[in-house]
Order: sequence, then C-alpha cells, then structure tokens
Amino acid sequence: MRPAVTGPDLRLEPSPQAGTAPAKVSLRNVARTYRSARGGKVSACTDVTFDVAPGEFVCLLGPSGCGKSTLLNIIAGLDRPDRGEVLIDGRPVSGPGPDRAVLFQEPALFPWMSVAANVDFALGLAGVPKTERRDRRMFWLGKVHLSRFADAQPHELSGGMRQRAALARALACEPDVLLADEPFAALDAQTREILQRELQRVWVETGKTFVFVTHNVREAAFLADRVLLMSAPPGTLVEEQRITAPRPREFDDPLLAKVVSDVHRHLIKEVEKVVAREIGG
Ligand SMILES: Nc1ncnc2c1ncn2[C@@H]1O[C@H](COP(=O)(O)OP(=O)(O)OP(=O)(O)O)[C@@H](O)[C@H]1O
Ligand SMILES: [Mg+2]
Repeated sequence: MRPAVTGPDLRLEPSPQAGTAPAKVSLRNVARTYRSARGGKVSACTDVTFDVAPGEFVCLLGPSGCGKSTLLNIIAGLDRPDRGEVLIDGRPVSGPGPDRAVLFQEPALFPWMSVAANVDFALGLAGVPKTERRDRRMFWLGKVHLSRFADAQPHELSGGMRQRAALARALACEPDVLLADEPFAALDAQTREILQRELQRVWVETGKTFVFVTHNVREAAFLADRVLLMSAPPGTLVEEQRITAPRPREFDDPLLAKVVSDVHRHLIKEVEKVVAREIGG
C-alpha cells in the first residue's frame, strides 16, 4: 500500500534520485506473521512497500509492536518475510551480507576485546587483509572521535562511547546500507544529542544509505531525509514526510519544529489506536 497523503505538510514525492538511479533498498508487499508461544499467530507487519534511494536517510517510526524491528531484521537478512520481498540494488535478499550492517540499541561489543580489536575482528570477518586493517580501523575510530580509546576495553567506555565504537565497527566494514534499531535509545538526552550530531556529520561525509528506527520524533526530524510512519499493529505504512531542511541541521531550526509537530500528531493517532485496543481488551 502506498502511504496516504494528508495535509499540506505530508507529501508523497519521488526519492531524490528516483528516475535516475535504482533504489538501494526496496520492500515489496512485505508481511511477517509469528507463531506465539501459546500457539496463536501474531501478525507483526503487513503489506509494507517502500523504496530507499542510494544515500538516503530514512527514519521508520510507529507505535510499539508495529513491526519496525521485524522489518529491519528482514532487510538485514536475519529474518524472512512470509510474503513479499526485499531487494538490495534490485537483487533479492537471501541472508545477511557485507553490503549491510546493523546497529542495535545495545552496542554488542565483545567485552574481552579492546575497542580496536572489536573493529579488527569485524574487518577480519569481512575479509579485509590484515595489512589493511590497522589503517582502516584507526581511520574510522578517528571519525567517531575514539582514537585515544582504541586500546580501552568496552567496560572502560561510557554508553555513548560504546555506541560510537559500534558505529565505527559498522562503518569500517564499508557497508552500503546501515540499519539502525533505536541505537541511541538507552543514552541520556545530552549524549544522545551529541551522537545525533555526529551521526549526521558521518552520514554527510560518507553518503551511506540509512534505515533508522526510532521512537523519538525529534531525532527522526533531525536526521532524516524522509520519515515513514507505520500504523498500529500489524504495521503498514500510513504516512510519509520528506524533510527538506538544509544540512548541517540545528535542533532549533524552526523548519524541524514544524515537522516534529506534524509527525507527532500522526504518530499519536496510531498510538491511541493501540491504547484503545488494550483498554477494550
Ligand atoms: N520472534 C518472535 N516471536 C514471536 N513474536 C514476535 C517475534 N518477534 C516479534 N514478535 C511480535 O511481532 C510484533 C512486532 O514486533 P517488533 O519487535 O517488530 O515491533 P517494534 O515495532 O520493533 O516494537 P518496539 O517499538 O517496541 O521495539 C510484536 O507483536 C511482537 O510481539
Ligand atoms: Mg523494535
């Protein structure tokens, strides 16, 4: 289903490169139903169709349980849809691959390895020759301002630094597509803002394609070229908004304040549907 176009601020527009370049990521009528522990069926998401252009930053928002993580896992190749398909550069996804990296809420660093060794390990898995790894990991640790902490163990870092290390590890493998599932959700507000700025900078510098899941409307407005809003579960796309505020963006940009209030209004409608169902049993 194509998302509805509602109000003057919510517009369906082709992606920036649409018509000139094929989509980097395409979802076509994706649906996923799980079997619950009690034997019933849970429809996580249904009929999800969208394209992400090369180099585009897309944020996925929606009420809890609407299938955002499910979709991200399917794009990552960690899960499979029951119906529909996911294409990367026009080719169907059949499993995880070096063209995609995932950032989770928990940075998932190996606690017994230094920051540098964590990045090195991922580079080894990606088949980067040993002789190239040192330069590559130092370059990316520098990009996230962790050069001085290359030899530190993860437990010696703050939560924000651990997440930056995970970002460096993901970027060092040079995937085309970064998939992020609420990567900053566990951080305090100030650290989160610093990382949002850093991520914006890294994205502008690298031009990676991003699919970024968040519950935070302000974060989505700050980071995204386009926000996709999912419905109450089973999730499907109901709205999309392109954000044209120039970059680098500032949090107090009045254009973003307008986006935040528009997206928030639509999100609340979907959240209220979930609450009404829960109250109604
Ligand atoms: N492995 C699983 N087995 C059974 N049900 C699952 C499984 N994974 C997800 N679900 C169900 O699918 C639905 C969607 O879950 P998902 O985690 O994708 O939602 P979400 O939008 O990421 O939610 P949140 O915002 O809370 O992270 C939920 O009802 C969830 O209980
Ligand atoms: Mg989730």
